[in-house]
Amino acid sequence: MLYKIFVTRSIPDVGIKLLQANKNVSLEIYERDQQIPRKELLKRVRGKDIILSILTEKIDKEVMDAAGPQLKMIANYAVGFDNIDLKEAAKRKIVVTNTPHERVNESVAEHTVALMFALAHRIVEADAFMRAGKYHAWNPHLLIGSDLVGKTIGIIGTGRIGSGVVQRLSDGFKMKVVYTDIARNKELEQKTGAKFRTLDALLKESDFVSLHVPLLKSTHHLISTKQFRLMKPTAFLINTSRGPIVDEKALVEALRNKEIAGVGLDVYECEPFIACNPRDIRDLRRMKNVVLTPHTASATIEARAAMSETAAKNILACIRGKVPPNAVK
Ligand code: DGY
Repeated sequence: MLYKIFVTRSIPDVGIKLLQANKNVSLEIYERDQQIPRKELLKRVRGKDIILSILTEKIDKEVMDAAGPQLKMIANYAVGFDNIDLKEAAKRKIVVTNTPHERVNESVAEHTVALMFALAHRIVEADAFMRAGKYHAWNPHLLIGSDLVGKTIGIIGTGRIGSGVVQRLSDGFKMKVVYTDIARNKELEQKTGAKFRTLDALLKESDFVSLHVPLLKSTHHLISTKQFRLMKPTAFLINTSRGPIVDEKALVEALRNKEIAGVGLDVYECEPFIACNPRDIRDLRRMKNVVLTPHTASATIEARAAMSETAAKNILACIRGKVPPNAVK
């Protein structure tokens, strides 16, 4: 059988080559380096057996209908899969896969730590200061930040990425680690000395709070007004998971009221916008204690190649009639 695959946006070569090397594969890749317009997506998936999607594509009932009843698989090029209607896919017995990989975990964990450093050592502010030609003489009070060493990091979600962050910070920076999760993570506790806390206790105790949970109904707006009020006014929040886990309106309000010291964001509730309304966008842009990156936590050569290879391997397993290594339930 010939498997017709549609790739919604070009991804690193390694996975594409793996797929092209299989004689049972007919590959079509959206040719423009831009997000595929919805209308075009609906047109291009028609008759395809497999869709290799990226996280900006909402793969819902409409897309599955447009593809047709032969659609067997949706291979998401991302660890997260909140862009896919899993219930609808399950109803139709469509296999859904994601791309968890050690390289991706490493990359996102590193990016999380980079955001922490950028905030604590005021790197972005300092860079802007230098570029503006404002540095005239060394000053004992200039751009004073804070150290990570000895501080408390609160990790919300201790899956592979959250655990990777813990490992780096407890080993490398002797940070005290507290965490919360749906269950105790005994292995992490033994390896790093991390201590389990309720969410509220973690928020009260932490100098840095980092989010590593998937976007689910139960995690939507997990961090909102009440939670910001529990945090120390000297604490920083880091989000490299999914935007809607933080109530961004409440976040901007907490920053305005100085309820927290700052925030590092890689993901946004109304992505690609940095906030959901113009006033919040304007204020976030002006705040110096805010460090923003464009959903690039996994944007390293190594991680993106691993994601591409993983997506392809999931597809090849499916074609060979095997359960793909990263089937999502
Ligand atoms: C993911 O994989 O879910 C990231 O958000 C993008 O790499």
